[in-house]
Amino acid sequence: MFDLILRNATLPDGRTGVDIACRDGVIEAVETGITAEAKEVIDAGGYLVSPPFVDPHFHMDATLSLGRPRMNVSGTLLEGIALWGELKPLQSVDEIVERALRYCDLAVAQGIGAIRSHVDTCDDELKGVEALLEVRSQVKDYLDLQLVAFPQDGVLRDPSAMQNTLRALDMGVDVVGGIPHFERTMADGAASVRQLCEIAADRGLRVDMHCDESDDPMSRHIETLAYETQRLGLQGRVAGSHLTSMHSMDNYYVSKLIPLMVEAGIHAIPNPAINIMIQGKHDSYPKRRGMTRVRELRDAGITIGFGSDCVMDPWYSLGKADMLDIAFMGLHVGQLCSRKDMAWCFDAVTANSAHIMGLEGYGLTKGSQANMVLLQARDTTEAIRLRPTRLAVIRHGAVIAQAPRQLSALRLTGRPDQVDPASYAPKA
Ligand code: FE2
Repeated sequence: MFDLILRNATLPDGRTGVDIACRDGVIEAVETGITAEAKEVIDAGGYLVSPPFVDPHFHMDATLSLGRPRMNVSGTLLEGIALWGELKPLQSVDEIVERALRYCDLAVAQGIGAIRSHVDTCDDELKGVEALLEVRSQVKDYLDLQLVAFPQDGVLRDPSAMQNTLRALDMGVDVVGGIPHFERTMADGAASVRQLCEIAADRGLRVDMHCDESDDPMSRHIETLAYETQRLGLQGRVAGSHLTSMHSMDNYYVSKLIPLMVEAGIHAIPNPAINIMIQGKHDSYPKRRGMTRVRELRDAGITIGFGSDCVMDPWYSLGKADMLDIAFMGLHVGQLCSRKDMAWCFDAVTANSAHIMGLEGYGLTKGSQANMVLLQARDTTEAIRLRPTRLAVIRHGAVIAQAPRQLSALRLTGRPDQVDPASYAPKA
């Protein structure tokens, strides 16, 4: 007797008619025609079952604060940072916890199973750190929340940032962050990368830096991040978030840089919605696309996860915790338009991001954690096209969120009486 069986599922790799049996929170079988019984059976109806969505880059201490204390009028990164500086002293730990938990509710309903959130450590009271450690504990049964100690105002530029970042790590924050392009000079930026990577190496932690979130082709901190990763033996544990300056870099320099990144085993986390919205603001026309070189990095063998970065906060007014929105945007901005490329964009918000975060037991194979999402779509590319209803979200073999199938009733003479958006999938 299993706890749960999903019957007649389509898997991300294209297999159809598959049953998935779960017991004690673990997937025990993925095969066709499972005859055993289960306490709960879900008919997937041929729709897509995927491992949960994973958001590898988010700011949960700022989310859902839109309008407090005012709106970002220019829409620029720098006004967003200034606005965040105005909000920080106004908000309480309880308020951050409340907003974060509300966001987690939405994320779970959208099929997100794991989030890497940066948390600002440039605050002597460390309110965000205290709040998100509490949230991490409260949501752990239904959401993996990984926290990054993020010195938003620059670990060297802000006089107490280094001390507060170390305090945050002592309190249990998981990953070392940084923002080298926001330090006072290129030299300080490089020094910040070196010092923060040394801290990660000493403590056995991962690194995820906001790196070169700029249109400046001379913003080359990713080179230092790759060098320090390789020097300190941190291969596979370091991610560069944003990397937007790579878009504007000289092609010859990039031809040297990407192999260095490959050698260092660095991961890349573009944030397509935020990047296309914020970068290129100083351009007239032609106006640059605000995203790093996704195709080139991917083809070189670098693992890429797409992050959402912001939802309804000082930097970005929109967003709904839908990683398929992010895949959709990444696909367009990166012109990833072959069928193979589109399917890869689904990996960028699922398996690739799980790999970057180091999630254990992620996937739909025997022995994996029984964490899944049932989508009203027929395959992964269709999921990106439709950004469909999450019919069921499953965690540790139990349903934790459900939504009814979306069907529109038609009142047209001589036409069908209802429409399922997922019924328009191309024939295999
Ligand atoms: Fe960010």
